[in-house]
Amino acid sequence: MKLKRSKSTLVSLLFLAASVSLLAQVGLAVKQEDFKTSEQVAFYQRHRAFADGVAKEGQLLGKSISASQTASPYSVLQDSVYLDGHTLVASVQHGADKVPLKLNVSFLEHGIVRIRGQEANPLKPRFDDTQKHVLRDGGANLKYASADSLSLTSEVINGQTVHVVAFKDANSTASFRMTERPWSVEYVLNNKPSILLNSKGLFHFEHLRERPGADGEVDGEADGAWEETFRTWKDTKPRGPESFGLDINFSGFEHVYGIPEHASPLSLKSTRGDKDAYSQPYRLYNLDVFEHDLDSPMALYGSIPFMVAHNAESTVGVFWLNAAETWIDVTRDKSSTLGNLFRLGTGSKEPSVSTHWISESGVMDIFLLPGPSTADLYRQYAELVEQTPLPRSFALGYHQCRWNYLDQADVLAVNDKLQEHGIPYDVIWLDIEHTDGKRYFTWDSGKFPDPVAMQQKLAYNGHQLVNVVDPHIKRDTEYPIWKEANDSGYFVKNREGTDNFQGWCWPGDSSWVDYLNPEAAAWISKQFHLDKYNGSTPNLFVWNDMNEPSVFNGPEITMDKDIKHHGGWEHRDLHNIFGMLYHKATADGLRTRESPAKRPFVLSRAYFAGSQRYGAVWTGDNAANWEHLRASIPMVLSNNVAGMHFVGADVGGFFGNPTPELMTRWYQLGIWYPFFRAHAHIDTKRREPWVFGEPYLTHIRDAIRERYRLLPYWYTLFREASLTGMPLVRPMWMEFPKETSMFAEDASFMVGSAILVVPATDADTSTPIDVRLPAQENWYDMRTHAAYVGPLKRQFALDLATTLVFARGGSIVPTRERQRGSSELMRRDPITLYVYVSQTGTATGKLYLDDGESYNYQSGAFIERDLSFANAKLTSRPSPHTVSSPEQVDFLAAMSKVRVERIVVVGMRNALTNAAVVENGQTRNIALTYAGSKVDSECVIRDPAVLVGNDWEILLS
Ligand SMILES: *[C@@H]1O[C@H](CO)[C@@H](O)[C@H](O)[C@H]1NC(C)=O
Ligand SMILES: *[C@@H]1O[C@H](CO)[C@@H](O)[C@H](O)[C@H]1NC(C)=O
Ligand SMILES: *[C@@H]1O[C@H](CO)[C@@H](O)[C@H](O)[C@H]1NC(C)=O
Ligand SMILES: *[C@@H]1O[C@H](CO)[C@@H](O)[C@H](O)[C@H]1NC(C)=O
Repeated sequence: MKLKRSKSTLVSLLFLAASVSLLAQVGLAVKQEDFKTSEQVAFYQRHRAFADGVAKEGQLLGKSISASQTASPYSVLQDSVYLDGHTLVASVQHGADKVPLKLNVSFLEHGIVRIRGQEANPLKPRFDDTQKHVLRDGGANLKYASADSLSLTSEVINGQTVHVVAFKDANSTASFRMTERPWSVEYVLNNKPSILLNSKGLFHFEHLRERPGADGEVDGEADGAWEETFRTWKDTKPRGPESFGLDINFSGFEHVYGIPEHASPLSLKSTRGDKDAYSQPYRLYNLDVFEHDLDSPMALYGSIPFMVAHNAESTVGVFWLNAAETWIDVTRDKSSTLGNLFRLGTGSKEPSVSTHWISESGVMDIFLLPGPSTADLYRQYAELVEQTPLPRSFALGYHQCRWNYLDQADVLAVNDKLQEHGIPYDVIWLDIEHTDGKRYFTWDSGKFPDPVAMQQKLAYNGHQLVNVVDPHIKRDTEYPIWKEANDSGYFVKNREGTDNFQGWCWPGDSSWVDYLNPEAAAWISKQFHLDKYNGSTPNLFVWNDMNEPSVFNGPEITMDKDIKHHGGWEHRDLHNIFGMLYHKATADGLRTRESPAKRPFVLSRAYFAGSQRYGAVWTGDNAANWEHLRASIPMVLSNNVAGMHFVGADVGGFFGNPTPELMTRWYQLGIWYPFFRAHAHIDTKRREPWVFGEPYLTHIRDAIRERYRLLPYWYTLFREASLTGMPLVRPMWMEFPKETSMFAEDASFMVGSAILVVPATDADTSTPIDVRLPAQENWYDMRTHAAYVGPLKRQFALDLATTLVFARGGSIVPTRERQRGSSELMRRDPITLYVYVSQTGTATGKLYLDDGESYNYQSGAFIERDLSFANAKLTSRPSPHTVSSPEQVDFLAAMSKVRVERIVVVGMRNALTNAAVVENGQTRNIALTYAGSKVDSECVIRDPAVLVGNDWEILLS
């Protein structure tokens, strides 16, 4: 949450002070008491008690049950199991309460298994629309395995019936085994049980039930089942208990990753058991956490219930599709050091991670993803939730933001100053103060008398504007947006469903549009159209803040769980997708405001699985200190692990004033975030790059220019992500899947597969930085081109000008080297190729270009080249995706002057003198130069003048 101290807000704050002690928050660390611990969450506590009971029972039963059995009371009903096409159906029942559950296990292509479960005859429907908003095509067109590729056999092992579904067409070693008593599941991959469900017996499903009458039996439900309070807020829970939980064991794995958003290390720590375990489970519940803690499993602004496990043999994943509040415990058998010793000693005990997932409501809906390679895993995940689409190309540039640029003159002055100092940028941002009294879609006409002229001035040199448009709508009968939404009944309702829900946010008393109502979502989308949004132009884009949603006087600063949405659903059922639904509606509005449609750009703070389709997110309100700078690395990586690729942290830190050193280092790191924005709180000092003077200005400018130089590489990475689902920034294990010692590494990371970044995260420039260059590969310092051979552990000295960035041997990296004021102005600039030669003298890479704004690339309007270097010959060939079409012809014509102006081959040992360039059947010879080379083993082909869109080859001799 952002706090402001202008007069008008002070007035609102005074009103607020009675119900929320917001004023007390100014300048303090996180107010723990604003947020629940797991001890204050009744459904979590009921599952905890159940789990402890099962564990105790298991100990009591001791020797009488075999190792594979637990004291779980849930069993498969006899003769209830059958295979119906691609779905295995089973009835499961809790021995004591006799309410049967139906489990549907569906087998999808590529070995994806989906397990859905709920009451066989639910008393009333459970919320099941999460899939509609999250899955590709709303889940309607999932690709199932063909029925004849599946076979069911049932066998009796130790008196236990086990049902086995073998996949014939997939990797023949995959099979799905379900044991009857108690119910448990093993997903066997590569002959190893790899993902185990209910192996600890923690599966527990609270079936829907009638509210016990005054004289009715209470059935042990005194513990917050029908009513729960948190501080002064009451949750009326009209539906009673409906939660469920399950343990999922990743057998053979020591590391699990993902489930953002938490300010925690990349490799997820245990939450129970270990010495260094967190004392709370990981929580997924989108919240506006003011000055959040670091190294904590506390919930933050976004939630993606996707967990990835990796070992040297394979990468697997679990996607827990549920939008309600969810808690995840992580346990390991022993402390990892002890585990390691044990394994070394005996060579027998496998590592494993057991996770316990608990959601408050909805249908149980889980996907098991078998990998086995990282590329396989992300293809599988993207099959479910789609890839990240290609963004507007300007969105990869530098974003200059602050709460707030004061007025039109200030905006234009910042624009001028950036240009004066030779600092490229693409977007300047306006926070809430640009509006007329926090009425979004309006302008403060005193400060912004002519927003259209302002945008046109910015657009002159290719710069865009972003306005914040938050989801809270000021309750003001004179405000047309409020009036229209009210009259159409588009607002979220109170718990009785009788009136609009009301809460406090920036404008004071507010209501929230109910995006679950498709008509309301379509209506809000239309408000972004050029004829509706006064003062907007096609150069205006949008920022959705506060969409968790943040409600200052609500429980945990958000909506009450029992208030009502379209269809009568409670907020609890969909809390974690609420922000995404607004993000989607905004993106839809921008996409359709012009014809033909253009790609939108929308930044959101709240997010869920699927949000990657609608734009970028940032990690939320961080602070100007070294700890937050460091924490941003695993946070950005964890989001990428979970498929939320277009993400960054606020450069400089939102709260507080960064020192010039911190600011410099943060820019040097921030250029490697997929989303690169500097932002600052209203109470902080101005901190645009020139404010810090020299030498900082030069270092910051150099960093930003490095980002712009590499924009063709970044855009090509986005293209790859849009096809394959692969992360843009990658933990080391993703690129070096067998380097076990780097599985927990989160101080350095890869950008794509070609660039290794080792950021400086410390004020101290006198102590050298430890660098690990993995694998038997060449690595080249990107600045000096000095070559190193991995695997290598080495210390590098660094001053404030230096950043440690290495190109991986075997890569070809495209750049644009001319300095311009914005990415827009670079569109037709020539390309430079860097060929970083591997130990075997080869390299490969890609270059992707399109118009950066339209959807014509979908009909072929792009250039995508496969570049390869071998036997001293560099070749450019069209990628297999290339299709010829009228749109492609037009695009090639538009790019007909764009050439490769320089090729730098780094790491060639022999002394070469000539480049024979073959293009269009013609050969021309160019003398290689070494002038300007940084190292001996580097040669430069000056102006080969080959066109980026053509086939060509260049032979060095
Ligand atoms: C089988 O495994 C291979 C090797 O990783 C993988 O490339 C392929 O996609 C898998 N096949 C299926 C049908 O998933
Ligand atoms: C399981 O499948 C049956 C038959 O297709 C369907 O009626 C039922 O709703 C499904 N249950 C779940 C939880 O998807
Ligand atoms: C995971 O399951 C395996 C096999 O049942 C078991 O040996 C191991 O202890 C479990 N791991 C944890 C952390 O509970
Ligand atoms: C808000 O909408 C309700 C329902 O349409 C209507 O009765 C009420 O008069 C509206 N309020 C205002 C102030 O227009």
